Amino acid sequence: MVYYVKQGIMPDSRHTYMEKDHLLREELFGEESFEGPYSLIYHSEEPTDVVSLSRVEKKNVARDASEDGHRHFKAFELKPSGDFYSARIPLIFNDRIVIGIMKPEKDASTLFRHAVSEQLFYVHKGTGSIKSIFGNLHFRKGDYVYIPKGTTYYPEYARGSEFLFLESRDRISIPQRYLNAYGQLREGSPYYTRDIRVPYLPYFDSVPGYSDVMVDFGDHYVLEHRDKDPFDVVGWDGYLYPFALNIENIAPIVGKLHMPPPVHETFSGKSFMLGTFLPRKFDFHPKAIPISYYHSNIDTDEILFYSSGSFMSRKGISEGSITVHVRGLIHGPQPGMVENAIGKEETDEVAVMIEAYDPVKTTPEARLIQDTHYMESWHR
Ligand SMILES: [Fe+2]
Repeated sequence: MVYYVKQGIMPDSRHTYMEKDHLLREELFGEESFEGPYSLIYHSEEPTDVVSLSRVEKKNVARDASEDGHRHFKAFELKPSGDFYSARIPLIFNDRIVIGIMKPEKDASTLFRHAVSEQLFYVHKGTGSIKSIFGNLHFRKGDYVYIPKGTTYYPEYARGSEFLFLESRDRISIPQRYLNAYGQLREGSPYYTRDIRVPYLPYFDSVPGYSDVMVDFGDHYVLEHRDKDPFDVVGWDGYLYPFALNIENIAPIVGKLHMPPPVHETFSGKSFMLGTFLPRKFDFHPKAIPISYYHSNIDTDEILFYSSGSFMSRKGISEGSITVHVRGLIHGPQPGMVENAIGKEETDEVAVMIEAYDPVKTTPEARLIQDTHYMESWHR
């Protein structure tokens, strides 16, 4: 839920009609049954008009239990493959979330809808547009792109685009503590309502030749065959829709002493929090140690995606690396990093952190790109 948006044409009152001879078909698009955030969408055709359904198996989704220890996955070694859907390589997961990398090498051949998970994409490289029933949402490098579960969409993207993706069974939200009692982003929060970009609904703009929808049910797809264009929406209003936020519009919070990761929180869910580490001035106490201290995250697993810049507290990490620091084991700066950091005034790092509240496991694909010596990076 973000803020109220109204686009296109619709009756003056909900659940009424404009012209009896040209009825619009109203769809309530909402979470938590009829109690959560929702939008009202006005189709020119009946959205239930599906010709037939067929099941489509996903490729290897076999997943193994996690192994012990902190891990480093060299995700930058993954080669482009597939389209926006088949390019998804899940690396880290639990029952509530899936985290992975996408490097699509060809255009998508169907429309898409996720039946069970909210989706958040971090655009590591590239540009493009999410065309959905809500309209067109352009994205660029450094964007977070949020797509509510249930949204029918078609992704367009430049060759060479790369994404970190997060799929969440629970709603992906703006952290509640960033909102005042009226639902507005508070003064002092790292971004503002104006920074959130919403889709633009053109008068008529479909994806010619594309009407089938691949619906993702987590462990398999169902292909929805349609003979009419699902992009027939003439208007919508409400609070639930895709949106984008660029990291350049996020103002990192800094302090006299080292700030803990929650001050860099960007989005939250029941089973995770997501933060963004951004270029920023370091702490201004004359004797400040400007990087992380050793820490025991005793009830979370920490996943970090390193997007760009130099990463002050980590050795052996490159752009496109993903680390998993597990609960139960202490972690922190590698030997020599504290000494190197003292006196540094700023960082140019860009990294995405996801703290998973339930223990995570890794996939066979992740172990193919695992740096098996990562635990040794703390050896002196
Ligand atoms: Fe950490």
